[in-house]
Amino acid sequence: MALILILIIAISIGHYLIPTTHHHLHEIFRRLYFFPILLAALQYGFRSGFLIAFIISLIYLPHVVFQWSGSFLSNLVRFNEILLYLLIGGLSGLLSDRTRKERDRYRDVAEELDQAYQKLKQQSDQMAELEHQLRGADRMAVLGELTASLAHEVRNPLGSIKGAADILKKRCKSDKTCLEFPQILADEVDRLNQVVDNYLTIARHPAASGETTNVIAALESIFQLVGPQIRKQNIQIQTDWPDSPVSIPMSEVEARQVFLNLALNALAALTPGGMIHIQILKSDQTVIIHFSNNGPGIPENQLETIFTPFYTTKKEGTGLGLAIVKRLVESRTGTIEVESQMDKGITFTLTFYPKKIT
Ligand SMILES: Nc1ncnc2c1ncn2[C@@H]1O[C@H](COP(=O)(O)OP(=O)(O)OP(=O)(O)O)[C@@H](O)[C@H]1O
Ligand SMILES: [Mg+2]
Repeated sequence: MALILILIIAISIGHYLIPTTHHHLHEIFRRLYFFPILLAALQYGFRSGFLIAFIISLIYLPHVVFQWSGSFLSNLVRFNEILLYLLIGGLSGLLSDRTRKERDRYRDVAEELDQAYQKLKQQSDQMAELEHQLRGADRMAVLGELTASLAHEVRNPLGSIKGAADILKKRCKSDKTCLEFPQILADEVDRLNQVVDNYLTIARHPAASGETTNVIAALESIFQLVGPQIRKQNIQIQTDWPDSPVSIPMSEVEARQVFLNLALNALAALTPGGMIHIQILKSDQTVIIHFSNNGPGIPENQLETIFTPFYTTKKEGTGLGLAIVKRLVESRTGTIEVESQMDKGITFTLTFYPKKIT
């Protein structure tokens, strides 16, 4: 607006100060008034365009009447010019208003389209996620049924074998050579029972027990259990946890199962001299456990796969370890995430929300 006012003042000064004998200069100045008129109309629309044209007409009129002081007819061109100011100011203002309205309308339509697109995208993402969950749930349901019947079928003969082994053991009395085979039988039966239990842990949704366990004590007992292997491989264990107990919403058996699996995986991945690092962060609402080891890590595209039942890269592995860990943690309203950098290591982050437990 300031530029428009400056232009009007400058042009008007030209008109009033330059004598009318400089006929050609006045011709130019008269037309220069179109600049502020057009500027106002294009920038601010009809009202401003017309108003500026009107003001200019008012400023210009005394100049025509008094300074040119000719007859009405000889000043007709100049009066005509005043009419043109008003016409151009008004018309170009109208035009600019219409263009602005159209532009606003297009912008609104574009915004609506963008919102609709975002909504659609969100819905399709949700559907994909739901489908993924349903497929997972489907698989788990089938696995659950299969496992329950398999466990039933397998456990009964296992019980008989164990019984037979015990009878054989009794018959051997203290004959060590005779005891060797029934003992192997009994041990293998125990191992098979453990495998069946593992399958059941994944397939069943563990019932909420409301129990809590001190995670530090659970971890200490696990490291005691795998102590011989840790020493054999010369693995360093670094811990960074509070001095006071930290409760997580799991039974002791479940907590030990979770951390034994993580510890065994770490030991399997580490070469002699490697390190396991455990950090526990406790706040009012969460307990966060970072379980890391500086082994070879895993490629990024396998990060999700390692939790899938039966996924293993080990010759003797069942691929159920991490599936059990995930199932147990999630059934206790916790979450488990994994991050890894090749050749730098891997970190499992378990988050529990003790207050959410019902
Ligand atoms: N700390 C780790 N470092 C590198 N790879 C790992 C680690 N933990 C798990 N993995 C990878 O994830 C796979 C799946 O682990 P998971 O514990 O489910 O089964 P597993 O250890 O192979 O078999 P199982 O637990 O029955 O002995 C492993 O075979 C291994 O390739
Ligand atoms: Mg494992």
